[in-house]
Amino acid sequence: MAEISRHPFLQGLSKHRGAPPTVVVIFGASGDLTARKLIPAVYNLGVDNLLPADFYLVGYGRKAIPDEEFRTLAADAIKEFSRRELNQDSWGRIAAHTSYVAGGYDDKAAFDRLAAHIAQIEKSIGREVQTLFYISTPPSVFEPILLNLGASGLAAKYIGQAHHAKVIIEKPFGHDLASAQQLNATLRRVFEEYQVYRIDHYLGKETVQDLLVQRFSNAIFEPLWNRNFIDSVQITVAEEVGVGARGGYYEQSGCLRDMIQNHTMQLLALTAMEPPVAYEAEAIRDEKVKVLKAIQPLNLGPGGDVARAQYAAGMMAGKSVPGYLQEEGIAPQSATETYAAIRLSINNWRWQGVPFYLRSGKRMARRVSEIAINFKPAPGTLFAESNRFNLAANTLSFQIQPDEGLSLILNTKIPGLETRLQPVKMSFRYATTFGSNTPEAYERLVLDAMIGDGTLFIRGDEAETSWKLYTPVLEAWAKAGRTGLDSYAAGSWGPPCSDAILAQKNHVWRQP
Ligand SMILES: NC(=O)c1ccc[n+]([C@@H]2O[C@H](COP(=O)([O-])OP(=O)(O)OC[C@H]3O[C@@H](n4cnc5c(N)ncnc54)[C@H](OP(=O)(O)O)[C@@H]3O)[C@@H](O)[C@H]2O)c1
Repeated sequence: MAEISRHPFLQGLSKHRGAPPTVVVIFGASGDLTARKLIPAVYNLGVDNLLPADFYLVGYGRKAIPDEEFRTLAADAIKEFSRRELNQDSWGRIAAHTSYVAGGYDDKAAFDRLAAHIAQIEKSIGREVQTLFYISTPPSVFEPILLNLGASGLAAKYIGQAHHAKVIIEKPFGHDLASAQQLNATLRRVFEEYQVYRIDHYLGKETVQDLLVQRFSNAIFEPLWNRNFIDSVQITVAEEVGVGARGGYYEQSGCLRDMIQNHTMQLLALTAMEPPVAYEAEAIRDEKVKVLKAIQPLNLGPGGDVARAQYAAGMMAGKSVPGYLQEEGIAPQSATETYAAIRLSINNWRWQGVPFYLRSGKRMARRVSEIAINFKPAPGTLFAESNRFNLAANTLSFQIQPDEGLSLILNTKIPGLETRLQPVKMSFRYATTFGSNTPEAYERLVLDAMIGDGTLFIRGDEAETSWKLYTPVLEAWAKAGRTGLDSYAAGSWGPPCSDAILAQKNHVWRQP
């Protein structure tokens, strides 16, 4: 049992969750995600004594990399990207069990070699171990990897036993409904659903997990969490960065696919779902799917529920930055949206009539991800009639990044001889209360998959339900090209068409 931190609030707390002996195989081990997130996550789990004693890391990729070189690459990644400095003792224990297998993703013989490599590890320690496959390659090779895991017998290893093989699959999970269905079908040919962990790293973030804790452990919220008291909900995922060097990728994706369909919908599902019968994967995911299914089809006509735009040149932090069309790798007349805003209606008992607004964009004024619950205003009997009173509606906001925490806006009397009101913000920040060394989302997610807890992963039907809602939007936008595509200055809070969606219901976007 490892102590999590020396912070006073955490003294004496221990983690009891232990993973069984595991071989983690990373496909795409020479890639960006492996270096920036996966290797540091494994390392920090090791520092926290959360890896099993029999833990093995195997990199897999097309490039031939000797074991020693892979270990050096991994150590360099820890030095550059880990939240903790490289400690030779902690890394040494993992490095001693780290190796690399070179092979193609569509090469059955190479997968047989991988299977033999894993069998050799088992032989050396004299016991069976579970294998966790982490598919961290571009989506174009998800399918061949899955099929070869099936053909080589690796997917079915120890099926029916607790140490059965497991697979984590990176985003994007499809690019529309048909491709998500196809990927699910391939997964189902090779794996059982309980072996599959579809990742959305937003679900590993502290505030996102805390949303469930806040909702379902604080009795004050449940009576208010419905259409009688909540006026609207705003979910924002704003980035300051532009497309940078990822223009080629982004042209095929756009904001709706990259952010709205997955991250913001996961945040919406956790905010709006009914209380699950248990704090466990299937109960939570059943409720998420139910609420996603209750969302009404989107009105795509003029004055409808959707808005899209592209950033134009503007100023960020005092520097001028180019517009999307001037970025590297972008087609001169590209219609790819870098901003999208959506108004959703959930047609169930709890939420009927409460608009849920989602927005996401690149080159926005500030990097922020948050869920803001806007409560209905207090009745105007005492304070609302006079403009002496600066009365605000209460807003509860969950800040997901940066500065993870939550805050509540309350009206307060300004001290003095007159009665004057001022909205004030009551805030809680994780870093202030618990110290700043919070585990990264990928640490939690890799550990959960090793343990076999799918709570913070997306089930196949969740992914398809979300794509079902957005595929008609993607089709309509592809057909319309640049017609109806608005623009916004880099460094602003988005385009006028997005404000218009809210104005129809007398709402305005919050400035987080
Ligand atoms: N990077 C991020 O921050 C991030 C964040 C969230 C999700 N993701 C997702 O995570 C996955 C991996 O991302 P990444 O940024 O690490 O990707 P990447 O660096 O472009 O690719 C990872 C590895 O896959 C192999 N690969 C690259 N292109 C390939 C191709 N066309 N065909 C076959 N193999 C290819 C390469 O290894 P070999 O040449 O050695 O085989 C490469 O090192 C993607 O699905 C991405 O969408 C990434």
